[in-house]
Amino acid sequence: MAQLEQPATTNACAAAKATSTAEVDELERPDSIYDDELSSYVSSVLDWEWKHGRRYHSYQAGSYSFPNDEHEQNRLAVVHRIFYRALGDRLFVAPIDPDGLRILDIGTGTGIWPLQMGELYPSAEIVGNDLSPIQPQWLPSNVRFLVDDVEKEWVEPEPYDYIHSRYMCGAIRHWPKLVRQCYQNLKPGGWVEFMETNETPYSEDNSETADNHVIKMLTLLAKACNKIERPLGPGPSLRGWVEDAGFTNISQEIFKVPIGTWPKDRRLKEIGALMTLDIAEGVEAFTLVPFIEVLGWSKEDLARLNEKVLQDLRRTDQHILYDVHVVTAQKPA
Ligand SMILES: C[S@@+](CC[C@H](N)C(=O)[O-])C[C@H]1O[C@@H](n2cnc3c(N)ncnc32)[C@H](O)[C@@H]1O
Repeated sequence: MAQLEQPATTNACAAAKATSTAEVDELERPDSIYDDELSSYVSSVLDWEWKHGRRYHSYQAGSYSFPNDEHEQNRLAVVHRIFYRALGDRLFVAPIDPDGLRILDIGTGTGIWPLQMGELYPSAEIVGNDLSPIQPQWLPSNVRFLVDDVEKEWVEPEPYDYIHSRYMCGAIRHWPKLVRQCYQNLKPGGWVEFMETNETPYSEDNSETADNHVIKMLTLLAKACNKIERPLGPGPSLRGWVEDAGFTNISQEIFKVPIGTWPKDRRLKEIGALMTLDIAEGVEAFTLVPFIEVLGWSKEDLARLNEKVLQDLRRTDQHILYDVHVVTAQKPA
């Protein structure tokens, strides 16, 4: 297959637009879907940005601070399992029957949510969008993926019956606008579901101490995300934003997500173990851009902090957890 290359300048596209009559390339072959010309146009979204030894998205480069490489994708698989278990082995909580519905998953990541929904509900049509085209290419006929920036005008104007948005903390700058866009892009009677945590972990028994580097790192991460105006803990604000957008039948549920194996309850213990794995595998991904580029830390200081995070993840005396806020709501019919 031809090597993908980014066009030399964006003027290449502008020049093509300015020509009044588009000339036909007589040498164009109908089966040449992978030739260099097409590849060069596709490349602007398929090229990656590499920095700090990790791979990042190139479409709207720099707007999302976390990597999209295989290591991060493996972490997102763990995160998917955490949400699934936290919700009581459910992919969603909205009171819908997805079969026959047109569904959107905002910022789909690896696409695992649409793929599982597509398998469970064969007559649903499911679209997942993301800045990064990291989803599988060979898909069931009822699942599709798009490269799109949900903070801009959405590329597909056809309305949906149900919009699902999960774990977009640190990604979204204008949450109220995004919630309004969901409203505008739903059919009358359609449902929306948002799933986000509070900002930093806490304990219910005051067992956490100021020297816990997991909390220290996550507090500094929240500071960096606030500095770039992409909040890390939108969960508690979701309900208000949904109310302001005009949704009705709003309901909010809060699910506990512990960090560590300290809970007695077997499900929470499993979630806590998965969260430990998530943070251990994700700490570098969470911190590289926010700490070095936003807070101005040196690589060496960051490496020292992250080492302490890994050590403190093993502590069993601190019973820390997040709340996951799940808000569902309906557009009036
Ligand atoms: C933390 S991941 C969550 C992925 C998925 N929602 C899940 O729950 O597994 C956030 C995803 O949102 C995507 N993203 C960030 N900003 C976005 C934007 N403005 N438009 C579309 N996708 C975006 C990122 O590329 C990333 O894949």
